[in-house]
Amino acid sequence: MKILVISGGPRKHGRTAIAARFIERTYGFHTLDLSVMEMPMYTGEEDQTTNPFVKSLRKSVLEADAIVLLSPEYHSAMSGALKNTLDFLSGTQFLHKPVGLIAIAGGGKGGINCLNNMRTVMRGVYANAIPCQLVLDPSTFDYDRDGLLKEAAEQVDKLIEELKMYTRIGKEVNVQQLI
Ligand SMILES: Cc1cc2nc3c(=O)[nH]c(=O)nc-3n(C[C@H](O)[C@H](O)[C@H](O)COP(=O)(O)O)c2cc1C
Repeated sequence: MKILVISGGPRKHGRTAIAARFIERTYGFHTLDLSVMEMPMYTGEEDQTTNPFVKSLRKSVLEADAIVLLSPEYHSAMSGALKNTLDFLSGTQFLHKPVGLIAIAGGGKGGINCLNNMRTVMRGVYANAIPCQLVLDPSTFDYDRDGLLKEAAEQVDKLIEELKMYTRIGKEVNVQQLI
């Protein structure tokens, strides 16, 4: 089962990158980190289809069985960097693909708008955003270990288990063939 992590934070040393690295380390998943990829701004021009970052993004998402999508909440939505990246993708890569959503928020009960925003966009590309979702605020991080505290790590584990379950179900019924 090939699970791809997309770290949607533009800040190299941000909390989104810490959470993505934690998931990558813990589960051995591959990560696309938008803070290091030089994604162009989507223009829809033909020449963007040969951009190496665009090609690699499209290939990686297409080949993945499931996705873990992480974004910081910026102004009550996903990051602009992530939305721009998703604009290069469509149902071609995402159709019925299970996606687990994680928002990185600033505290004060933030994060839910980011999750809802990601869920709406996932519907737009015909992905299957799973019911389990997670907000990680600053108090859930273990900064000394470049990771997450125990309780948050357990919540991530539940989300990954559910993601794997929906991925298995999708394979069993061969969901791609049903449409
Ligand atoms: C431009 C901007 C807007 C933000 N808006 C929100 C917000 O609406 N809700 C929230 O909970 N936190 C907000 N924050 C705080 C970030 O979500 C928080 O610092 C988070 O750790 C950012 O992830 P990062 O460290 O990967 O950048 C905002 C931060 C920035 C820079």
